[in-house]
Amino acid sequence: MPATPLEVQNLSAGYGPTRVLEGISFSVPAGARLAVLGRNGMGKTTLLATLAGQTRRYDGRIVLGETDVTALPSASRAWHGLGFVPQARCVFPTLTVEENLFVGLKGRPKSALQEAYEMFPRLYERRRNLGSQLSGGEQQMLSTARSILGRPSVLLLDEPLEGLAPVICEELMKAFAELARTGDMTILLVEQRIQSALDFADQVIVLERGRIAWSGTPDSLSKDHAAVERLLGVGGLH
Ligand SMILES: Nc1ncnc2c1ncn2[C@@H]1O[C@H](COP(=O)(O)OP(=O)(O)OP(=O)(O)O)[C@@H](O)[C@H]1O
Ligand SMILES: [Mg+2]
Repeated sequence: MPATPLEVQNLSAGYGPTRVLEGISFSVPAGARLAVLGRNGMGKTTLLATLAGQTRRYDGRIVLGETDVTALPSASRAWHGLGFVPQARCVFPTLTVEENLFVGLKGRPKSALQEAYEMFPRLYERRRNLGSQLSGGEQQMLSTARSILGRPSVLLLDEPLEGLAPVICEELMKAFAELARTGDMTILLVEQRIQSALDFADQVIVLERGRIAWSGTPDSLSKDHAAVERLLGVGGLH
């Protein structure tokens, strides 16, 4: 599936009676890379989960390419090309690494597994191990690899670098950039490693208590020291 644009209009959502997101609007062109930043508890995970259809939506619209997916359940959104790698890793503990990857193939031939193993050689080494036997970082790689194998047109990544060694982080960010660059995927990235996110993205939104408090380019955010300190709680970027 080729990359598609994503349009979010006036989205409000939460959990049961608890409203978390209020009036979120943004659009991401096909093949672009959006970083979603903000301090802990500001609504980043809730935003991705809402796009994936996993929270309660009160208001607003979500349009994927030509398709309004607002009323569609989570599984149909995936069918329309939305891939979600959640912050809480989901690896099937009683399946092997390879069997976990089969789940992500979505009808593609088994030979496509090679893509996952090229991206994460560690998964190839561990392919016969059970999901339950993997380290946190390996589960992270598996969960990400499985999503990418399905060739989503819009990929939602919630802190994909968490628990990974710096050298792997760098390789992974390069791989994500390559996926977006070749026009295969539109990518939304939530990441606490702000500099990595800014190096990767071409647009940024910063959430504060469920609303967009800042939006612009990575370059303009790097220069806006006041916003960085107020919204991200860090003294400066380099
Ligand atoms: N299942 C839930 N039920 C009720 N409230 C929730 C639920 N999940 C999250 N929240 C609340 O929604 C708000 C936003 O949480 P969210 O997980 O979206 O933040 P976040 O920006 O991803 O934070 P972090 O950086 O810590 O991952 C928080 O106040 C949180 O307590
Ligand atoms: Mg989160």
